[in-house]
Amino acid sequence: MKVLVTGGAGFIGSHTVDLLLEKGYHVKVLDMLQPRVHPFGKPKYMGPEVEFIQGDVADKNVLSKAMEGVEGIFHLAAYQDYMTDFSNFIRTNTLSTALFLEIIVEKKLNIKKIVLASSQSVYGEGKYNCKDHGIQYPDSRSIMQLENSDWEMYCPQSGCKKYLEPVLIDEAVTNPFTAYGISKEALERLAAKLGKRYSIPTVSMRYSIVQGPRNSFFNAYSGVCRIFTLRLINDKSPVIYEDGKQLRDYVHVYDVASANVLAFEKNECDYSALNVGGLKGTNLIDYTDTLIKVSGKNIKPMVPGYYRYGDTRHTVSSSEKLKKLGWKNKYNLEDIFKDYLKWVYEQPDIKDRYEEVETIMKNQNILRKSKSSLSI
Ligand SMILES: NC(=O)c1ccc[n+]([C@@H]2O[C@H](COP(=O)([O-])OP(=O)(O)OC[C@H]3O[C@@H](n4cnc5c(N)ncnc54)[C@H](O)[C@@H]3O)[C@@H](O)[C@H]2O)c1
Repeated sequence: MKVLVTGGAGFIGSHTVDLLLEKGYHVKVLDMLQPRVHPFGKPKYMGPEVEFIQGDVADKNVLSKAMEGVEGIFHLAAYQDYMTDFSNFIRTNTLSTALFLEIIVEKKLNIKKIVLASSQSVYGEGKYNCKDHGIQYPDSRSIMQLENSDWEMYCPQSGCKKYLEPVLIDEAVTNPFTAYGISKEALERLAAKLGKRYSIPTVSMRYSIVQGPRNSFFNAYSGVCRIFTLRLINDKSPVIYEDGKQLRDYVHVYDVASANVLAFEKNECDYSALNVGGLKGTNLIDYTDTLIKVSGKNIKPMVPGYYRYGDTRHTVSSSEKLKKLGWKNKYNLEDIFKDYLKWVYEQPDIKDRYEEVETIMKNQNILRKSKSSLSI
């Protein structure tokens, strides 16, 4: 079977391509080689067995051509950032999804399934429990709260000032608050609702924080593993935001590639959304300690009291639904770090870019100081 992988030159896309090839699929890749992700052009890891098309997923003619002879689609190309060019998120992530469906209906194509990259960001602040009011899906914290280094979440019910306990996020409720999260929620709805209406099987994969080899160095706004690793390699301290107690779940890119292929092959999950998360929630301090241990460096992290406006406090997904289809996490956090470090040391340019990125984020007022912050 021939399948099309958009964003197949990227981090998750390329590992998905490798797994598909291993399983005997013929693979076509459509990728524009976004310069920020691929400053040196087509990556070396993409072999000649892949039919490669360089082009934009939001261009109908390009997409239409790329879909010729294809029976399955993995739509992983995306615009991902913290910046304020909101329309780019919708264009690359959502418009492209609508175009896929439009072309399939127009040309009466027989597509077995579309697997779409969604994200944990569709949950916004996530899911919490209040001792008095039960399950809550609160909005993000106010700037005033963050300026006072008051990091935890409070119950949003009127008159209730109780702290909220984070609970594992299942797929039931979405509440995105960024242009990126909204673009992903919208593409999911297009895929599920129009997919069902026109009998085009689709499944949306809500990845948590994905880590491992090939995560581009040049796309440094997210990717704590990449940023902290480059700091450590250059003998500098990782800079932890807030108080370092925020919980996240981290999943190895190999586990994500196998989730993508499994979801493609199982029709039980058609028209649904699936979390693809890590083994457990880990706070940033423990995360950094494990990375320092695996890296063999004798460096302590800094916790200067900075915060990124718009960051969530605790987000940890439950992947129970995906596990019922036969998936499991094969790799833990130490495996992620070992595999990532091995890859990093093979790269020609391992310069620390944190300060560069920090300046951009400060200029854009994304990275801010709380009242108790220390200067670094
Ligand atoms: N990495 C994560 O932690 C994470 C978490 C949640 C969701 N996701 C989603 O997973 C998918 C893959 O992410 P990734 O981490 O591999 O990112 P990546 O940046 O490594 O790969 C994305 C690829 O898409 C290509 N691309 C970007 N815009 C394009 C366009 N308009 N047309 C064609 N190609 C384009 C880029 O050149 C790149 O090769 C994305 O949809 C992303 O939103 C990633």
